[in-house]
Amino acid sequence: MEKEHIFLLIFSFIVLKSIAGSHHECLPASCSSSEPEVRFPFRLLGHQPAQCGFPGFDLSCDQQNQTIIQLPSSLPYVVNRISYLEQVIYIDPGFCLPNRIVGLNVTDTSFSYSNYLIQSYTFYNCSQNYTSRYPVLPFPCLSSGNYSAIAILTDNVYPGYVPSNCEVIKTIEVPVQRNGGDVRVALELLWFTPYCKYCERESKVCRLKSDGQRTICVSSSSGEGLSKGAKYGLSIGIGVPALICIIGLVYYAFSKVQDDNDTRNQSIELSSVANIPQPASKSGLDRPTIESYPKTVFGDSCGLPNDDSTCAICLSDYKLKESLRTIPECNHYFHSKCIDEWLKLNATCPVCRNIPENSTSEFGCSS
Ligand SMILES: *[C@@H]1O[C@H](CO)[C@@H](O)[C@H](O)[C@H]1NC(C)=O
Ligand SMILES: *[C@@H]1O[C@H](CO)[C@@H](O)[C@H](O)[C@H]1NC(C)=O
Ligand SMILES: *[C@@H]1O[C@H](CO)[C@@H](O)[C@H](O)[C@H]1NC(C)=O
Ligand SMILES: *[C@@H]1O[C@H](CO)[C@@H](O)[C@H](O)[C@H]1NC(C)=O
Ligand SMILES: *[C@@H]1O[C@H](CO)[C@@H](O)[C@H](O)[C@H]1NC(C)=O
Repeated sequence: MEKEHIFLLIFSFIVLKSIAGSHHECLPASCSSSEPEVRFPFRLLGHQPAQCGFPGFDLSCDQQNQTIIQLPSSLPYVVNRISYLEQVIYIDPGFCLPNRIVGLNVTDTSFSYSNYLIQSYTFYNCSQNYTSRYPVLPFPCLSSGNYSAIAILTDNVYPGYVPSNCEVIKTIEVPVQRNGGDVRVALELLWFTPYCKYCERESKVCRLKSDGQRTICVSSSSGEGLSKGAKYGLSIGIGVPALICIIGLVYYAFSKVQDDNDTRNQSIELSSVANIPQPASKSGLDRPTIESYPKTVFGDSCGLPNDDSTCAICLSDYKLKESLRTIPECNHYFHSKCIDEWLKLNATCPVCRNIPENSTSEFGCSS
C-alpha cells in the first residue's frame, strides 16, 4: 500500500508538471507595456517556455526593456512592431548606434524579404555646408561638429548628385518597407513558415503540435485551462487521496481534450504548409520567369481545372475578377499575388513541390 501511494504521488506530480508545462501556459508576453506583444511563432526567452514558440523565433529583452531579435549571422536588433496577421516583423536598423551602419544577414534564418524590397544605400560623411540639388537622407544622429552624415540610394549615385565635399562611409543593402516607410526607422522582414495568417484572421490561436514541428489552429476558448492559482489551490488544499483522484480525472479529461483538439475539424492541419523545406529552396525564381507562367482572371468564360476554389497559400476562396496564376507542369493555381510572393523565395510549387520548368502549358481554357 505504501509503495503504491508513493508511486501515485510521483505519478500525480509528473501529471501536474505536464499540465503546467502545456500550451495552456503560452500566454502572450512583452518586455514592457509599450513593447510589442510576443506570442506564437515568437517566444520571449525567460518568459515563455520553449514549446510556446517556433524554432528560430526566439526574442529577448535588453536592459532598457526593449524587444531584441538576434539572428545567427547578424548583430542584435531592436524589434519595433510585429504584425502577426501579415507575418511581418519591423526592426530598428540601429544606424545611429556607434559603428552600426551594417546590413542584415538573413541567410539560414526563417526570415526573408522580397527581392524588390531590397534597396542599397550609400552613406556619406560630408563637411557641414554640403549642398545638393537632389533629395538626400540626412542622419543628424551620425553628424557632429563640422561634419554631417547623409545617405543616398546607390542607384542615384552618379556625378552631380552626390555633393562634392562628401566621402563614402559605407554601402549597405537593407529590406525597406512596402508602404514606403522611413528606412531610418524600420526595416521589414517577412516569414512564411509557420503559416498562421488564416488562423490570425479568424482570431484563433496558432500553436505548435506536440511533435514540435507542425502547427495547428485552435479556437482560443479551448486554450483556457485551469489557472495557475487554481492548480496551487487544488494541490495544497486537498488531501493526497483526493488529489490523486482528481489528478487522475483531470489527466483523463485533458488527454481527451488533447485528442479532440488534434482531430477536431476546426483545427486545420498545417503539415503541408509548415513543413516546406525553406532554406533548401531559398533561391526563388526571377520576375521574368514568374511572369512567364500563365495568368487568368477568375470567372472569365471558363471554370477552373478542378473543383477546388480555394487558394492553398492564403486559404481564401477565389472571387470573381481575381487574378490567378498557374504553375505549368502540375497545373496548380493560386492567387497571383500569393504565388508571386512565394515563387520569389521558393522555386517549388507549394502544393506538390514540383520544380516548375519553363513550359507554356495553357490554363484549362482550351475549349
Ligand atoms: C524594466 O522593467 C522592469 C519590470 O517591469 C522595471 O522594474 C525596470 O525599471 C524597467 N527598466 C527600464 C530601464 O525601464
Ligand atoms: C551571411 O551568413 C552566412 C552564414 O550564415 C555566411 O555564409 C554569409 O557569408 C553571410 N553573408 C554576408 C553578406 O555576410
Ligand atoms: C566624418 O569625418 C570626420 C573627419 O574625418 C570624422 O571626425 C567624423 O567622425 C566622421 N563622421 C562619420 C559619421 O564617419
Ligand atoms: C563652405 O562652403 C564654402 C563654399 O561654398 C567654402 O568656401 C567653405 O570653406 C566651406 N566651409 C566649410 C567649413 O567646409
Ligand atoms: C568647424 O570649422 C571651423 C572653421 O573651419 C572651426 O573654427 C571650428 O573649430 C570647427 N568646429 C568644430 C567643432 O570642429
